[in-house]
Amino acid sequence: MTTVRELRPADARAFLEVHHAAVRGLAAKDYPQAVIDDWAPLPVTDKAVERFLLNPDKEIRLVAEHDGKIVGIGALVVGKAELRACYVTPGASRKGVGSALVREIERLAQERGLGFLELDSSVTAEPFYLAHGYEVRERGEHILRSGQAMACVKMVKSLQPRAQHL
Ligand SMILES: CC(C)(COP(=O)(O)OP(=O)(O)OC[C@H]1O[C@@H](n2cnc3c(N)ncnc32)[C@H](O)[C@@H]1OP(=O)(O)O)[C@@H](O)C(=O)NCCC(=O)NCCS
Repeated sequence: MTTVRELRPADARAFLEVHHAAVRGLAAKDYPQAVIDDWAPLPVTDKAVERFLLNPDKEIRLVAEHDGKIVGIGALVVGKAELRACYVTPGASRKGVGSALVREIERLAQERGLGFLELDSSVTAEPFYLAHGYEVRERGEHILRSGQAMACVKMVKSLQPRAQHL
């Protein structure tokens, strides 16, 4: 069974490792090696973990566990109405882990009063987000922290107003 919960600081390295495994194992077929190397730089250093924990954009970070192991990660930036991340390890893909993360991100967004979510999807993840009702706004480029540009698909989804409790 898959459970989704908020990240604890002790999970930071596992979060980055899942991100890197997904990029290198699932997205690498769709991007040049230079993009993959900047998107998921190896090794995961202590410095990278420390920087990740600073969290300047106040991401709400989630992990998905299967049999006690972290196999998926997600992130929401409420201030930008942005679904920031959803990544699943190759070994756990196509088992509903990514969907569980997206459902929880959307629930948290609705709980905070957001009426829509935007995201920059990888080319790889476009069918996944389409399956979740996201629509393509435009195709463009996402600029990685290193300055490297990567092809992306800008998508958006309206969220239903949260049910009122009378
Ligand atoms: C995109 C990603 C998060 C999907 O996670 P997942 O756990 O495999 O997704 P799910 O099992 O919940 O898939 C739900 C549905 O999405 C669609 N889908 C998911 N992956 C797909 C793919 N590679 N091709 C086509 N449709 C896909 C399918 O409709 C699927 O339902 P189905 O398996 O019953 O056919 C995962 O493949 C990943 O981490 N990719 C690489 C990293 C990446 O690019 N992440 C997004 C960054 S913006």
